Amino acid sequence: MFNLKRLVAAAGFVLAAANLTFAQTVRLTVQPGTPQLQISKDIYGHFAEHLGRCVYDGFWADPGLNVPKQGRIRMDIVEALRKIKVANLRWPGGCYADAYHWRDGVGPTTQRPHTINTWWGDAVEDNSFGTHEFLELCKLLGTEPYLAANVGSGTVQEMANWMEYLNSNADTPLTQQRRQNGHPEPYGVQMWGIGNESWGCGGNMTADYYTDVYKRYATFAHNYPGSPKLRRIVSGANGDDPNWTETCMKKIPLDQMWGLTLHQYTLPTGSWSGSKGAATGFDETQYFNTMKNCLRMEPIVTRHAAIMDKYDPQKKVALLVDEWGVWTDVEPGTNPGFLFQQNSLRDALVAGTTLNIFNNHCDRVRGANLAQAVNVLQALVLTDKEKMLLTPTYHVFDLYQVHQNAQYLPLQFQSPDYELNGQKLPALNASASKDASGAVHISLVNLDTKKTLQLETTLPGVTWKTVSGRMLTSGNVNDYNSFDKPNKVKLVAFNGAKKRGGNLVVELPPQSVVVLEVK
Ligand code: AHR
Repeated sequence: MFNLKRLVAAAGFVLAAANLTFAQTVRLTVQPGTPQLQISKDIYGHFAEHLGRCVYDGFWADPGLNVPKQGRIRMDIVEALRKIKVANLRWPGGCYADAYHWRDGVGPTTQRPHTINTWWGDAVEDNSFGTHEFLELCKLLGTEPYLAANVGSGTVQEMANWMEYLNSNADTPLTQQRRQNGHPEPYGVQMWGIGNESWGCGGNMTADYYTDVYKRYATFAHNYPGSPKLRRIVSGANGDDPNWTETCMKKIPLDQMWGLTLHQYTLPTGSWSGSKGAATGFDETQYFNTMKNCLRMEPIVTRHAAIMDKYDPQKKVALLVDEWGVWTDVEPGTNPGFLFQQNSLRDALVAGTTLNIFNNHCDRVRGANLAQAVNVLQALVLTDKEKMLLTPTYHVFDLYQVHQNAQYLPLQFQSPDYELNGQKLPALNASASKDASGAVHISLVNLDTKKTLQLETTLPGVTWKTVSGRMLTSGNVNDYNSFDKPNKVKLVAFNGAKKRGGNLVVELPPQSVVVLEVK
């Protein structure tokens, strides 16, 4: 007898099976690469601005807060971040850097002035977290400090004095002050950004004007005997602004810059005016648009790198994407000037995709800083008084740490499409590297919310026996870790990769980030 219900159920089953059985097989080749080309660990840098609850009520805890602390540095955050190997930490901004006067933040805490953070919510800044506290934090994290000098509202002398204070071993009033403030030895800070977003909050300069200002500052950025050579970093372009990069590369002699930056954020709606989109509770169309905007990083980096190639074919100057990440509307009821947003599986897919782009451009991209480490924008860690949680983005940095300073291995593949409402995106993105022990790591991101991808991978020149992996996924791209459910989105062992003959076959689940180890 004809049974409509059964027929529909059977058809549903056949369709579901078809999704797997007839899923397009992606042929992927992991190429041998060249030993000289490494993925710089500095791509895995982070950012701590005096903004909202990143420093105060983040890294720097209230004295009365019942959490493990060293001084006022929150050690549960330090422990978590040590595990993912933070390569460098950028401070004190951001826009705040061009309003920051370093002398306000040294010396006895009770004598430090209270100032107003005019960039971020007019918060009163008590300057209890200053240069020494930041460098102590870096020491505890085992990370390299990356300071941003004030060009917008400071002076050349102020920056030069900061460098002498930190890096000189001579006997001068400034170094005596450092010694009195508890640090006899020079700190030897190497990474120095000369201004931040000088086209905007750093002074609204033209590219032409900034390059002259930069050269003046760079001239007085002195290398002190015994301290490592400075890495002077040019404040670079706003997203896809080729003119800024072109002007800097044309006008600044190569030996006066170690790096040039670029800032590019992913906005779910793609627009700075009006709503940027919510951090959670979005629909698939908004997810799709977010990923489309995230993938713009690829042509933007390619374009800036091509301009740099014209003036610097030997690729001496690094491109640093020292602000990137998802920027959504703030959480309802929070201070709009504090940029506090939740972090979902979507953020993790953005992080995995963006880091794959940086890895694949490691010949030029030799630094990057996610905005920001704690409680601000696409954070790694969120806190609520004593409570702390790790976001899905944190887990991606945990997975990808294997690429730090590993040999880059180029990949070859044709991605299937992720289709929605008649639009298409590449569903698959990936990158690979070989570490010092010879183990190969492949990071794979499947952006499609429904389709599993079948990968048939060859690794010419690699002799291997085993494959293992870890994965981040969840039932919905909207899923996030809350203080009630801090482990909703977490890493799990991945068992979908097998050796078949000499090939590596992988079943990559929808909306997942997977890192495989082949050895
Ligand atoms: O990361 C937040 C802000 O975004 C930074 O202060 C600024 O540089 C950028 O516009």
